[in-house]
Amino acid sequence: MNYDNILSEYSNGITTITINRPKKLNALNIDTIKELHEAFKSANDDDTKVIIVTGSGEKAFVAGADISEFANFSVKEGGNLAAEGQELLFDFIENLSTPVIAAVNGFALGGGLELAMASHFRVASTNARMGLPETSLGVIPGYGGTQRLPHLVGKGRAMEMIMTAGMIDANQALNYGLVNHVVAQEELLPFAEKLASKIMRNSSVAIAKAIKAINANYKDGKDGYKVEIKQFGKCFGTEDFAEGTTAFLEKRKADFPGK
Ligand code: COA
Repeated sequence: MNYDNILSEYSNGITTITINRPKKLNALNIDTIKELHEAFKSANDDDTKVIIVTGSGEKAFVAGADISEFANFSVKEGGNLAAEGQELLFDFIENLSTPVIAAVNGFALGGGLELAMASHFRVASTNARMGLPETSLGVIPGYGGTQRLPHLVGKGRAMEMIMTAGMIDANQALNYGLVNHVVAQEELLPFAEKLASKIMRNSSVAIAKAIKAINANYKDGKDGYKVEIKQFGKCFGTEDFAEGTTAFLEKRKADFPGK
């Protein structure tokens, strides 16, 4: 499929989705969000085992939602913007059964940091800078930032980042647990691909169930332990489980049939 605002490339089980509006620091306009939805959906539905999302150019992952697009919005339009974005992209990614790694290669601000936070985990390059600057524009984060940032860094740090609208650098993000690893910019994609390869050695079917169980811990009204029990039980009916346990007992590497 051809996209105007993103690139999507498949190689050896990994789909790399690149937001490709470098002149606008990869700002997320509505068309880009729709294309991202399609690209994530099709990677989740094909035999992709890991998705890496990154930004084009050396400066930005994503510098936020496209401010020029919503500057004149009404109350209703503002609410719709957040609702549509969360449904199409941010909640959608978080609940995908295929693992999503955000490779944060520069500015990840506003919707950019929210995109990285909706991904299953994050790695960053040394030049990355992250923040939720929305209150400096008279608005609040609307793509899940007020919920996911406190989950990841704790309430006090999230309050400070959102109230000050400031940016933190890659090392501080590492210290906060917002990103898992920091590497040089030229090593970022190879590093993310190496992590993806490690993930791909394991059962995609089991990983999908693990994502569901982990996410249940962060959903109001869900009992994560119950979800875990259910997903754990389901694993016993899968071909991947038969292969994984048989391979262990036969002292060979598992060749998982799933996905
Ligand atoms: N929405 C729309 N356009 C954006 C954008 C955004 N979120 N972020 C950057 N751009 C555009 C700029 O308007 C500029 O376009 P132009 O060349 O047509 O004028 C281009 O991207 C380059 O950005 P510029 O500001 O010139 O780069 P810089 O290196 O001086 O500053 C930033 C980089 C990231 C600090 C600055 O672009 C910025 O503060 N962006 C907005 C961040 C933000 O508030 N995001 C949250 C939105 S809710």
